[in-house]
Formats: sequence, structure tokens, C-alpha cells
Amino acid sequence: MIIAVDGPAASGKGSIARALAAHYGLPHLDTGLLYRAVGLSVARAGGNADDPHDAVAACDFPESLLMDTELRNEASGALASRVSIHPQVRAALIQRQRDFAMQPGGAVLDGRDIGTVIAPGASAKLFVIASPEVRADRRLNEMHRNGMEADRDAIIADIRARDDRDMNRDHAPLKQAEGADLLDTSNLTIDAAVRQAISLVDAQLDRRSKE
Ligand code: CDP
Repeated sequence: MIIAVDGPAASGKGSIARALAAHYGLPHLDTGLLYRAVGLSVARAGGNADDPHDAVAACDFPESLLMDTELRNEASGALASRVSIHPQVRAALIQRQRDFAMQPGGAVLDGRDIGTVIAPGASAKLFVIASPEVRADRRLNEMHRNGMEADRDAIIADIRARDDRDMNRDHAPLKQAEGADLLDTSNLTIDAAVRQAISLVDAQLDRRSKE
């Protein structure tokens, strides 16, 4: 069984996907990490994330890069959003994601195009959203916990810019997949969001089993 979880930055999709994987006993892939690894590789090689040649050259990054803590920072997120525009980059990463999804027993994947492109036939699909202000506050709290200071307005602006780029790109834009249930986490604690996610997935699995 494949569970596809898509949504914008800081919507809660990563935490929800991890919790779903634990609940259903499935492996989990955070596909954003792959794009972050490409973005960070380009930057470290002194390349330009907006240049498709530089970005494609960075797609065979070493596996060990996926453990690098620098991937988690805002700069890597912004670089990821820039390299992910290039269709050649998306094509270079597609097989790896499909192989993960198709492993025996299934998997949970989270990202921007899991339900639309990577696994359109997924057993269950969620589209997780939250307001930009709530998402900015989550990012701020996360940064404060890590001892970093940040300006709330700058974070809101960054989130809006990333949404705009992710939703309006020509290839695999961020959008609710056909058959995906919408889950708005703006006013939910993470525990409540996970409970709702599990009941939505259970209902989709139940519907599918009767088809
Ligand atoms: O954790 P957060 O939602 O901030 O970001 P992420 O999921 O790590 O993704 C970083 C960036 O990679 C996104 O803004 C997207 O532009 C891109 N991405 C994508 O295009 N397709 C995916 N399946 C996953 C991420």
C-alpha cells in the first residue's frame, strides 16, 4: 500500500507522513530531502541553482549527503525550490522515488507531486495545508528551539515566495491530486492532525477495498 502526502512548506506533511509510516508499519521517504541535496550540492560546487545544467550535474550527489544537517536549514529549502523547477532535475529523481514507492509492502512518501506524478495510483492520498501565518510561526518556533533568531515577516515572505514558485511552475506543480483528501492543520495540534490523517487514510482504504 502506497500513501501519498503532499503539501506546502511547514504544513505539517512531514510529521504526518512520519506518523502514518509508524502507524501502518511502512517505510517513509521525505522526497524534499532529495531536492534539498541537489540544491546544496549545486551551491557547494559554486554553481547556479537556476541554471539547469548546474542543477542536473548535481543530481548524482553522494548518498551520505542525505545525512547532512545543513539540508534542514531555510537556505537549503530555498535552493531546493529553485532546482526543482527544472524538468531534467525532476526526471533524474523520479525513478528513485518510484522504486521506493513500489517496494514490497508499500511505503509512505511526502512531497509536492507524490499523488499527482510519482504515485498517481496510490492507495491513499492526503493534501496537507495550513495558513502562511501559522506555517511561519511553526518555522519560527523550530528555529528558536535550535537557538536561531529570525524575523517573522521575512519568514512569511519566504513561505509565500516558495508557495508561488512551487504552485506556478510548469512541471509537476504543487496541487491537490485527484482523489486526495484535504487536511487543513492551521488550528490542529500535531496529535490531532495525525488522528485526522489516520481516519482519512482508513476511510480511503476502506472505500478502495469495496471498489
Ligand atoms: O520541509 P519543507 O516543506 O519546507 O520543504 P521540502 O519538502 O523539503 O521541499 C523543499 C522544496 O523542494 C520545495 O519547496 C519544492 O520546491 C521541492 N520539492 C519538490 O519540488 N517536489 C517534491 N516532491 C519535494 C520537494
